[in-house]
Amino acid sequence: MRREWAALPGAVVKEIAERVGGIIDVSPAPTGNHAEIASTVVGTSRTVFVKAASTGLSVQTLRYELTATRAVDWFPPAVLWHFERDGWLVVGAELLDGPHPDLSPGSPDLDLLRVTLKALQGTPAPRGTWFTPAGRLGFALPDMQGRTLVHSDINPTNLILTPAGIRVVDWAWTTEAAAWVELALLVQWLIGSGHSPAQAEEWLAQFPAWTAVGGDALDAFAAMNAAKWNVKAEQRPDGWVHDLAAWTGEWAKHRSSQASKLQLMPNGCTTTQP
Ligand SMILES: Nc1ncnc2c1ncn2[C@@H]1O[C@H](COP(=O)(O)OP(=O)(O)O)[C@@H](O)[C@H]1O
Ligand SMILES: [Mg+2]
Repeated sequence: MRREWAALPGAVVKEIAERVGGIIDVSPAPTGNHAEIASTVVGTSRTVFVKAASTGLSVQTLRYELTATRAVDWFPPAVLWHFERDGWLVVGAELLDGPHPDLSPGSPDLDLLRVTLKALQGTPAPRGTWFTPAGRLGFALPDMQGRTLVHSDINPTNLILTPAGIRVVDWAWTTEAAAWVELALLVQWLIGSGHSPAQAEEWLAQFPAWTAVGGDALDAFAAMNAAKWNVKAEQRPDGWVHDLAAWTGEWAKHRSSQASKLQLMPNGCTTTQP
């Protein structure tokens, strides 16, 4: 949960100030809400993005993210420095200056996302111990196992449009899995950005990992993901949880109606076209 910059002890602020040549301005990130401190810090010698954590799980999460961002090239912001002081873990990263992409149907930003995702889909997980699909999502299928680097939270607020292309922040859920798992986790955000489930699937069909995975695996994934978010929505009032429950639910409903249409086809017919 986000905290004010003023929550940082003086000694921690002093160490940050030393690294940027004196602090001129601090502005908290308007998006995201998990990291305790997530702020742009303008210094006299350099502007950086600072993430910091002090409580048990937040520190563990930021430490994991630090390991991931240092192990992966280009996609994440480069880590410039990090230190621990007075119970705080503090990470200074390259500032990615730009807006979040618009992922609505027909948006030109989708072409840029395709480029970033294609590159990510071709990147093996670096050596290390990463979340498994089951550890990350709380459900798994044999087809979800794989060796690809999967960010697993590709939503518009974790994407930044830069002159060099779309870069990706927030690597706290870095997972080693099959490449299609990244795409299956993007469906909910495409739906949330205005795609129908069929439009989202059509856009994803340009990725080889999507067309290679069996329909049964996608059906099962969609159903399990929707069931998970449905349970969360029963337990929590947060708007974003209810949004995710609605979007994952839409996709699961679409998949199950497609599957039942297929079952109505005569034996041996593999298309839903009349
Ligand atoms: N290196 C960076 N440069 C610029 N903005 C960043 C950077 N890292 C994160 N952000 C911004 O801060 C927001 C919150 O950071 P994020 O790492 O996503 O943490 P959270 O866990 O709170 O979602 C992001 O949505 C993004 O807009
Ligand atoms: Mg985020």
